[in-house]
Amino acid sequence: MTDQIKILVSTMTGTAELVAEEIAETLNSKGMGAEILLTDNIDAAVLQKGATYIICTSTYGQGDVPDNGQAFLDHLDSLGPDLAGLHYGIFALGDISYHQTFCNAGNLFDAALRKFGATRIGEIKRHDASTGELPEDMAGEWAEAWLEELKELQ
Ligand SMILES: Cc1cc2nc3c(=O)[nH]c(=O)nc-3n(C[C@H](O)[C@H](O)[C@H](O)COP(=O)(O)O)c2cc1C
Repeated sequence: MTDQIKILVSTMTGTAELVAEEIAETLNSKGMGAEILLTDNIDAAVLQKGATYIICTSTYGQGDVPDNGQAFLDHLDSLGPDLAGLHYGIFALGDISYHQTFCNAGNLFDAALRKFGATRIGEIKRHDASTGELPEDMAGEWAEAWLEELKELQ
């Protein structure tokens, strides 16, 4: 089983990073290492077969990934790596008032990783900002359940 999970963060105003910090804390409390990386500081070549990732992303524009995630996704597409054996989860932040594009950046990351053979663990988590519930308040519970699903695979 993987001993460290990399949490990749695409964010415009920082909320997804708060979510990532909460997820990292929960994983650490369960004995799992976690490293947070902003997608503007890395390129898609960091993705490794056999490794495990969590994507935390908000959605902007017309259902787009935040600016700091677009170059990462473009690079992934041009690299076209073989990601068979890579596992990932997705925590998507959005707002249902953008009903046609609700949490769409989560779908975009999902499609990009699946296209190259990676396997998602669990459903995409979709946080709706219009509920008033803070996403970082539900991130720990989500991470705990997600980690259980990961362990069932091993
Ligand atoms: C200008 C703007 C556009 C947005 N567009 C969408 C959208 O298309 N779909 C969606 O689900 N949420 C959309 N949102 C909501 C954000 O994704 C949501 O508030 C999120 O929690 C912000 O997280 P961040 O601070 O990590 O960027 C938009 C918000 C703003 C301010």
